Amino acid sequence: MTNSHAARGIDTSRPHSARMYDYYLGGKDHFEVDKLAAETVAAAYPGIFVCARENRGFMHRATRVLAREHGIRQWLDIGTGIPTEPNLHQVAQSVVPEARVVYADNDPLVLKYAERLMRSTPQGRTTYIEADVNEPDTLLGAPQLAEVLDLSRPVALSLNALMHFVTDAQDPYGLVNRLLDALPSGSALALSHCTPDFDPGTWEKVTDIYTRAGTPVRFRSQKDVARFFDGLELLDPGITVGHHWRPDAGQGDTPTGQLPTDAEVSLWTGVGIKP
Ligand SMILES: C[S@@+](CC[C@H](N)C(=O)[O-])C[C@H]1O[C@@H](n2cnc3c(N)ncnc32)[C@H](O)[C@@H]1O
Repeated sequence: MTNSHAARGIDTSRPHSARMYDYYLGGKDHFEVDKLAAETVAAAYPGIFVCARENRGFMHRATRVLAREHGIRQWLDIGTGIPTEPNLHQVAQSVVPEARVVYADNDPLVLKYAERLMRSTPQGRTTYIEADVNEPDTLLGAPQLAEVLDLSRPVALSLNALMHFVTDAQDPYGLVNRLLDALPSGSALALSHCTPDFDPGTWEKVTDIYTRAGTPVRFRSQKDVARFFDGLELLDPGITVGHHWRPDAGQGDTPTGQLPTDAEVSLWTGVGIKP
């Protein structure tokens, strides 16, 4: 680890999920250790690149649909990742320039690039909080959040490719409920989550690779992902594999030109509205 990285709390001696994900997306903001771990995952599961790309595509479409059809003007995006254009606020503000977005991640490396997340339209506003989804009260109580979001008005809680980093022992459903409890009626949950449903053997290997690299993961079935939406009104088409969620709402950032298989994507996605 270099001194400057150490000073910012960035550990370059072991792979980290945000930087491995940056590698899957073809980004440049990762270290050799992340690339090696990501290549080990890709050797076991070559679909990982398609999965990452389709995950971004789902985020783009869900954001557009919430802005256009459900009047959402505010987003709380937890597990933001290293910025990848277009970022959520760019998608939202392309529909509603006054959109406000709070980003949060627990990786100090993301903070280093947070400036890229702050390039808001003049009418809208964005901010970044270094925070952990395992501490929802700290996150919700952050002064920066209160400066950007009005929690008396609907907010879309965006948890994309995040909750599989929260194990059962960490009470993932309780955490999401705590966050949703703080949001008023008309708010939304947009969530994507990797799954072993289509190829259990491969996902067992992926689980082992992440766990051995020091990142415990819990990839979940469609039934277990559906539990995150308990008490919400699921938008059509329900919990679907990423590329099947409202493909009419526009392309992702890097369209493949040909439809991937469900096993390649291996990502359950859904959007629900709080009644
Ligand atoms: C696979 S990336 C997803 C990035 C982005 N949400 C997307 O879907 O394109 C997962 C992100 O979640 C972050 N993360 C993992 N565990 C977290 C936690 N407990 N609290 C906050 N962020 C977390 C990682 O640092 C990483 O940036």
